[in-house]
Amino acid sequence: MSGHMHLKSALVFIYILVHLHWSCTENICSPNKDCKNTDVYDETMTAIPEKLKDGATEVFFVNSQIPVIPKGAFSKNPQMKKIEFIGTSTTSVEVGAFEGLPDIITIEISGTNVTSLPVGVFKDLINLENLVLKSNKIQHLTKGLFDDLKMLQNLNLHTNEINSIEEGTFDSLENLKILHLARNNLSSVSTSLFSKLKNLRAFRLYENQLTSMPDGIFDHLPDLTEVALHGNKISFIKPDLFPHKSKLVKLFLDHNLLTELQQDLFVGFSSLKTLSLDNNQLIRLPTVLFGEMPMTDLSLNHNNLTDLPTGVFSPLKKLRKLDLSSNQFSMISKDFFEGLEKLSDLNLQNNNIKSLKIEDFEKLQSLTTLKLGNNKLQSLPGDVFDALPKLNKLYLYKNPWQCDCNLLEFFEWITNNKNKIKSKPSDVCESPKNLENQTISSLTEEQLICLTTLPSTTPVHTSVPMTTLHTTVVSTTTSTTAAPTTTT
Ligand SMILES: *[C@@H]1O[C@H](CO)[C@@H](O)[C@H](O)[C@H]1NC(C)=O
Ligand SMILES: *[C@@H]1O[C@H](CO)[C@@H](O)[C@H](O)[C@H]1NC(C)=O
Ligand SMILES: *[C@@H]1O[C@H](CO)[C@@H](O)[C@H](O)[C@H]1NC(C)=O
Ligand SMILES: *[C@@H]1O[C@H](CO)[C@@H](O)[C@H](O)[C@H]1NC(C)=O
Repeated sequence: MSGHMHLKSALVFIYILVHLHWSCTENICSPNKDCKNTDVYDETMTAIPEKLKDGATEVFFVNSQIPVIPKGAFSKNPQMKKIEFIGTSTTSVEVGAFEGLPDIITIEISGTNVTSLPVGVFKDLINLENLVLKSNKIQHLTKGLFDDLKMLQNLNLHTNEINSIEEGTFDSLENLKILHLARNNLSSVSTSLFSKLKNLRAFRLYENQLTSMPDGIFDHLPDLTEVALHGNKISFIKPDLFPHKSKLVKLFLDHNLLTELQQDLFVGFSSLKTLSLDNNQLIRLPTVLFGEMPMTDLSLNHNNLTDLPTGVFSPLKKLRKLDLSSNQFSMISKDFFEGLEKLSDLNLQNNNIKSLKIEDFEKLQSLTTLKLGNNKLQSLPGDVFDALPKLNKLYLYKNPWQCDCNLLEFFEWITNNKNKIKSKPSDVCESPKNLENQTISSLTEEQLICLTTLPSTTPVHTSVPMTTLHTTVVSTTTSTTAAPTTTT
């Protein structure tokens, strides 16, 4: 008896390891939890036992060798509430596999080689609330499959190979709250497919092959709070796509092919907290894009923006973090940041910014973190960050710093504000040649000299010995690409 108990706890322990590996969120039977209701089988199990452990209401098959889940598999165990097959060798599930289970609430079949599910597999499961069919090889969903599941709240079909869903497949799921169809192979969906899901909260179709969202797709889904469409090929969002926009809290549109957004597209999203637009191909934003919303983070990184309309972010009163990195900005303007008094974190990394001036930042009174790495900055004015009283983390790495007399003022600022500069790798000179790759902070003022001067200005005064005593003069009449004229 005690031997049997030991075996059982060992199995439970193994199960926990395997299961934690599988899905970290679910922990069915932790060592300090009473597991008397739980029956767990591992990879040594080759068939579903006719009679499960006495009193068990939950059963788990983990990596078990069960090729088929046969009709009536649990009919001698009508008390079951939860049945899970995880990583089992299952390839088919027979019609009536879960019959005779009036109390069943959760069924999971995940990480198997199941390619299709016949109509009738989930027949009579009128109390089922969770159906998890993720990480299988399902290719097609047939009308009728979910017809009896009137109480279903969570339908999870992500990471399959679904490329078609028959019209009417979801029509009975009037209590469904979460529809998870991410990571499948859907290239289009119809409006009518989802029109009966009147209680839906979360609509997840990310990482499919969708090119557009049909008209009216969300018209009959008044309670949606999350729409996740990232990782598709969507190039256009229709202005009236979200008629119930005031309830939406999360909207994921990143990793698509959006090039432009319509005027007023996100006006009226008064509950929106998360909006992702990064990794698209946005070339511009409309003059009015946002209305007031509680969003604190906005990511527009990895787009093709070169400019922004005046005050485009100003309705975003709560915005703390703005990511404009990996775009094509060659300059920025104070007009971009109008109304962003609360912004603390601005990322402008990986752009083509060539110059900055103090006015550019004057609207950003709360800014603490500014990322300017990998731009085209050769020099900066000494007062450029004076409008930022709270700045304490500045990233400047990978700019082509020109370490000559024009850098003197900013060099002084760097010297006095070393603690604010977080760049790693550290900032190095790109020119002149003799200072290439030298860390700016290792230089002395005497090294920051200009050897080139215009004839009208005073001659270069420097104490550094010059090897060739030629003063290079760039003629003002020749183009800058012409070879410099050398006078003796
Ligand atoms: C699914 O099939 C593949 C190929 O036959 C096999 O290698 C794999 O182990 C199977 N998966 C499971 C969970 O049995
Ligand atoms: C999914 O669709 C893509 C493109 O349509 C195709 O190349 C791929 O083979 C499909 N994958 C499966 C598993 O059907
Ligand atoms: C955006 O930039 C990428 C990379 O430079 C380019 O391949 C793409 O064609 C651009 N898209 C648009 C719409 O300009
Ligand atoms: C400076 O660093 C770059 C990149 O590491 C390298 O290609 C180049 O040769 C270096 N130049 C000198 C003068 O060390």
